[in-house]
Amino acid sequence: MNDLEALVQGAQADFAAAPNPAELENAKARYLGKSGRVTELLKGLGALTPDEKKRRGAEINQAKTRIETALQAAREALAEAELAAQLHAEALDVTLPGRGRGVAGLHPVSRTIARIEAIFASMGFDVAEGPEIETDWMNFTALNSPENHPARSMQDTFYVDVNDAQGKPLNLRTHTSPMQVRYARNHAARHAGVEPMPEIRVIAPGRTYRVDSDATHSPMFHQCEGLWIGENISFKDLKFVFSEFVRQFFETDDFDVRFRPSFFPFTEPSAEIDIAFRSGPLAGKWLEVAGSGQVHPNVVRNFGIDPERYIGFAFGMGPDRLAMLRYGVNDLRLFFENDLRFLSQFK
Ligand code: DAH
Repeated sequence: MNDLEALVQGAQADFAAAPNPAELENAKARYLGKSGRVTELLKGLGALTPDEKKRRGAEINQAKTRIETALQAAREALAEAELAAQLHAEALDVTLPGRGRGVAGLHPVSRTIARIEAIFASMGFDVAEGPEIETDWMNFTALNSPENHPARSMQDTFYVDVNDAQGKPLNLRTHTSPMQVRYARNHAARHAGVEPMPEIRVIAPGRTYRVDSDATHSPMFHQCEGLWIGENISFKDLKFVFSEFVRQFFETDDFDVRFRPSFFPFTEPSAEIDIAFRSGPLAGKWLEVAGSGQVHPNVVRNFGIDPERYIGFAFGMGPDRLAMLRYGVNDLRLFFENDLRFLSQFK
């Protein structure tokens, strides 16, 4: 066998053995590339006499053609193998039975909000919903947070690139508290001239937004506002209503409730509501479950109601946190990642 025949057979064997296109192209470079063996042979022709050059040149070119043919064949074989593998992998077995439709379930936070609504409805509370894009006045000013007041910085706010009628940028509501104002103003207008004004008793659950994100904060989260206004509503009523809520929500009598002094611009005095279970996995720890307080007279005035005559309390709680406590979930983000392995446990 002469040198060219050996070269051609070597190339044919290498090409056929290449397991994938990348290695095939490497093998090609070894023969046909810039410093490949065929190229080197062609360069060597310069040293020959014209007659030898002609003969040898023709032989090398013949060998080159055979090597190119082998390369093309190997390329096609690899492409065909790839197609065959893909067809095999994606094969449909049309004789398989259908998968059936998955049974949907309510999201654990939706379940929690439904529970909250049912419990407060049983105590005579209306349930109201309102806009998630709020005006500056509703979200802050009417709630006794004047412009430039430092209390506004308690809530890191998402602003919208659109101004309201007052020329202030709209915001994604940072809490459900503006629903106190919206609901109470409607109520006052609807009962204008009625003496005494029928009591306001309402909860307002919904989505709220703040620039905040970690294991216990999500930029979108839920709140549920509560408001009870009448001629004679006091902290005693708040303590009863909230304790009753906790009793029904967690299905136990075995807990204590305490009010811990705090500050909110829209209430005076203000308190955090903590609960502590006396038994069970959470026993012995004070857990903060709501902010609350007696509604500030300035806020009652912004309701369109006389603060000398009507008084009451408000509270705001976090359904996400209540869901975490009830179901023993330790990372808030799990609720909003939409991983079905997590969510389907609540069906
Ligand atoms: N809006 C408060 C917040 O987001 C929670 C709150 C506290 C609501 C006290 C209330 C209240 O109605 O009385 O932090």
